[in-house]
Amino acid sequence: MSALVVHGIGALCTCDPSLGEAPGVVRDAALVARDGVIVYAGPESELERSDIPRGALEIHARGAAVLPGFVDAHTHIVWLGDRGDEYAQRAAGVSYEEIAASGGGIRATVRATAAGSVEELATAGRERARRMLAGGTTTVEVKSGYGLDHEAEMRQLDAADRLRRWDDLPDAVVTYLALHALPDGPRDAYVDDVCSRGVADAAKRASFVDAFCDTGAYTVAECERLFTAARGHGLRPKIHAEQRSHSGGALLAAQAGAVSADHLEHATNTDLEALSSAGVVGVILPGASLVLGGPPPPGRRLLEAGCRVAVATDCNPGTCYSESMPLMISLAVALGGLTPAQALVAGTVGGAAALGLTDRGVLRRGFRCDAVILKTPSWVDVAYHLGGDIVASVILDGRLAVPSKT
Ligand code: NIG
Ligand code: FE
Repeated sequence: MSALVVHGIGALCTCDPSLGEAPGVVRDAALVARDGVIVYAGPESELERSDIPRGALEIHARGAAVLPGFVDAHTHIVWLGDRGDEYAQRAAGVSYEEIAASGGGIRATVRATAAGSVEELATAGRERARRMLAGGTTTVEVKSGYGLDHEAEMRQLDAADRLRRWDDLPDAVVTYLALHALPDGPRDAYVDDVCSRGVADAAKRASFVDAFCDTGAYTVAECERLFTAARGHGLRPKIHAEQRSHSGGALLAAQAGAVSADHLEHATNTDLEALSSAGVVGVILPGASLVLGGPPPPGRRLLEAGCRVAVATDCNPGTCYSESMPLMISLAVALGGLTPAQALVAGTVGGAAALGLTDRGVLRRGFRCDAVILKTPSWVDVAYHLGGDIVASVILDGRLAVPSKT
């Protein structure tokens, strides 16, 4: 039995929609977990001594705000190599597409990553996942996509799965990003392979399948083929859609019943309404929008269309090298038009929805006890303090995984 109590919470941001106005704040609260599950989340004055399991670790938040652990629903953290040179080139005026067309971009990372062993890939991913946990992320989605070859993709999925074995890392959810960069050889043969042994073998390792649907990447027809093949093996679709151009990926997500459609900078309001009607979660990636330029992340437009919204890092070596969910929540406000409360919800329970997870993202009895204790009494600081050092400690699955340094 493991148990933990957090006393003295100034503002418990439950992100629980049943508590009214977001982010569902309870003042002067306490949080109690037993075996990883929340058994009490409410006013400290109503907590009975008998509600506290015997032997529980008791900690004090000293009036700080406490929120659900962040759910980062879109990352590419299993990569080797470095593309800092490209970042500098882009700053000097060369576009992402020009770099990709000359063999750089995603394919540069494929060259550095494809030959990596599961051990090497897992070690690289582990370092990034550790930084994520220190920044308050308690669940992370991890994609493959830098293999461009069956065996290399499976090694990346095995490395992503290996992250689940370490209990000092966020809980990992694995996605087979089958169609990412274009192959050197015939693309039809590559898509055939992915749609046959790719999805069959990935289904033993991953929960979702993903594709990059865009100019210079894969077409709607190719992505649709992948989704049909993947569904036969129990892999639910996700899609990188309308990121660099308007290519039809969002409507495909709606038709295919995807769990999420991600990026969406070039999506029209009609696209967003289709996602809303189909119950597809819109994932905004404001770090990538910032780095690449172009239209802003459509946070407010998604909400106006009635969509559920998630915000994620997209942590990858090309378009957004950041592990920080607090920074993305800040950018969702500054660039995406969300309020701080909406952005906090998007980074917690919204992220859980984008991964089809209903057991986390909210601080309520019966949910997984993943929580962040801030250094400050004001939860708005998550959005307001840009790049600020705001996380005091992190609770992962009911354990104090990142203790306070002060
Ligand atoms: O989500 N858009 C495609 N994939 C990534 C970028 C990957 C890379 O540049 O290495 C993204 O932005
Ligand atoms: Fe991505």
